Amino acid sequence: MLGPVLEGERVRLEPPRPEYLPACQWAIVLRHNGKLIGNTAIEKIDWRNRRGETGTVIGEKDEWGKGYAGGSMRLRTRYAFRELGLETVTTLVVQGNDASRRGLERAGYRQCGLRRRYYFIDGRWHDAWQGEILKDEWEATQEKTP
Ligand SMILES: CC(C)(COP(=O)(O)OP(=O)(O)OC[C@H]1O[C@@H](n2cnc3c(N)ncnc32)[C@H](O)[C@@H]1OP(=O)(O)O)[C@@H](O)C(=O)NCCC(=O)NCCS
Repeated sequence: MLGPVLEGERVRLEPPRPEYLPACQWAIVLRHNGKLIGNTAIEKIDWRNRRGETGTVIGEKDEWGKGYAGGSMRLRTRYAFRELGLETVTTLVVQGNDASRRGLERAGYRQCGLRRRYYFIDGRWHDAWQGEILKDEWEATQEKTP
């Protein structure tokens, strides 16, 4: 979906501009200088069952390890539950992508499965870590850290 602008501490999620194509759903933009560094999305939304799937890419490698993916995941999670009214959000991460998994876990995702031979990358199969986050479990953590 193309969401509204969400302002975080250091990053802003905003709908893509024409110059941000090839297409992304939310552009991740640094608040201090307006630089586009990646994208993130809540996609495949199933409104009847109130669930969606998420993904994040920080394309600018110079910006890795600065907390931008994690910050984006947390912003996106709040929006999914508080604004979209979703009940469950799930995601898939290539096994071994520790930064992505760690960011998701810090946002509240927990492992709910392991998809075997899910991605074929560089000529070989990789398993996928499957994570999920549920609205009430996330809300409970928010009460502790308002
Ligand atoms: C994976 C990716 C999204 C991470 O983005 P990032 O902005 O560098 O991540 P962050 O800096 O927010 O780090 C998230 C967490 O992982 C930790 N982390 C960062 N790099 C790490 C690494 N190489 N190994 C283990 N943990 C790492 C961070 O310390 C942080 O945890 P913390 O909040 O407890 O400190 C980014 O590297 C990327 O886009 N890679 C290519 C595309 C991709 O793999 N996308 C994910 C598809 S599922």
